[in-house]
Amino acid sequence: MSSASQRIPVTLLSGDGIGPEIIAATRRVIDALDAPFEWDEQPAGLGALESHGDLLPSCTLDSIRRNGLALKGPLTTPVGSGFRSINVRMREEFQLYANLRPARTIIDGGRYEDIDLVLVRENLEGFYVGYEHYIPVGGDPKAVAESAGINTREGCRRIAEWTFDYAVRHGRRKVTIVHKANILKLLTGLFLETAREVGERYKDQLIIEDRIVDNCAMQLVLNPWQFDVLLTTNLFGDILSDQIAGLIGGLGMAPGGNIGKDAAIFEAVHGSAPDIAGKGIANPSALLLAAAMMLEHVDRHDSAERLRIALRATLVEDGVRTGDLGGSATTEQFADALIQRL
Ligand code: NAI
Repeated sequence: MSSASQRIPVTLLSGDGIGPEIIAATRRVIDALDAPFEWDEQPAGLGALESHGDLLPSCTLDSIRRNGLALKGPLTTPVGSGFRSINVRMREEFQLYANLRPARTIIDGGRYEDIDLVLVRENLEGFYVGYEHYIPVGGDPKAVAESAGINTREGCRRIAEWTFDYAVRHGRRKVTIVHKANILKLLTGLFLETAREVGERYKDQLIIEDRIVDNCAMQLVLNPWQFDVLLTTNLFGDILSDQIAGLIGGLGMAPGGNIGKDAAIFEAVHGSAPDIAGKGIANPSALLLAAAMMLEHVDRHDSAERLRIALRATLVEDGVRTGDLGGSATTEQFADALIQRL
């Protein structure tokens, strides 16, 4: 099958801050890889607010709905101005219930070597449903803050099934269900109970165990190699995925995918890095790794592997690195070196 005959439309969101710089570099690399993607550029973020009066205009939502696939740069959510996080809006709009965050060592010689972990975070429920309010007492309007966490059996079931299927398809050996069912007995107890029930169907193919989140956090520092795939709730997944990014050299190397039944959006885990925006020095590696995940998502495993091998060669053998990794290459120079390697 020739790559040219099977073009796959992808919504491309440049995003804010360093977004346009790392998206441009990633696009050049992906095009040099002769990947099957056809880019459908759409507005989102602060630029879209100016041009369309909305951080997430309807043309962008329509494009993602049509294509079912998007690659996005980081988006800045204005603080304290009544805007809901664009990322949360997109996850809800397209029911992207699985947040896939792999952490694999590329540059050896760090504090940990040979890390190969996959974290799956439930992306729509738990404490991120945003049901919060203050209760006034006496003259204090904010005397008490109350927040509700919501987990549904159906939500727990679909993320558990997705994770076990993913683990089997990718030849993983073990899934650890991470929870806090000793304290949040109902909220995360339901998650644990449902995931264990679903796991019964997979126990011939996978080792399935569980861990309390605090113990898991400590074990990840002491001996991360004992874990393989981690399955957890929204808040715990948010925290633990940054922790596992720390095991492989930080946010500059951490990609993520938000995946649902009808759409998938791939991105770097990091934000828009306003402190270095416009300087041309951002590290595009995390977004490139997200693009590799997108290639795998459309079953282009060969291209994904080529990209990862070239990225490793550029970083390790050629020693071409951006400032965050101790090098002096600009974003463009890094992309040029990577394209040479392809
Ligand atoms: P951040 O991840 O943007 O930056 C944290 C630190 O890491 C900064 O010093 C930054 O320069 C550095 N950094 C991040 N990515 C880098 C890269 N590719 N190359 C080199 N250095 C890099 O986190 P921060 O500052 O908390 O958030 C900034 C904005 O990003 C906020 O508006 C936040 O809402 C947004 N954000 C968006 C996300 C998304 O769209 N998925 C995720 C996280 C934050």
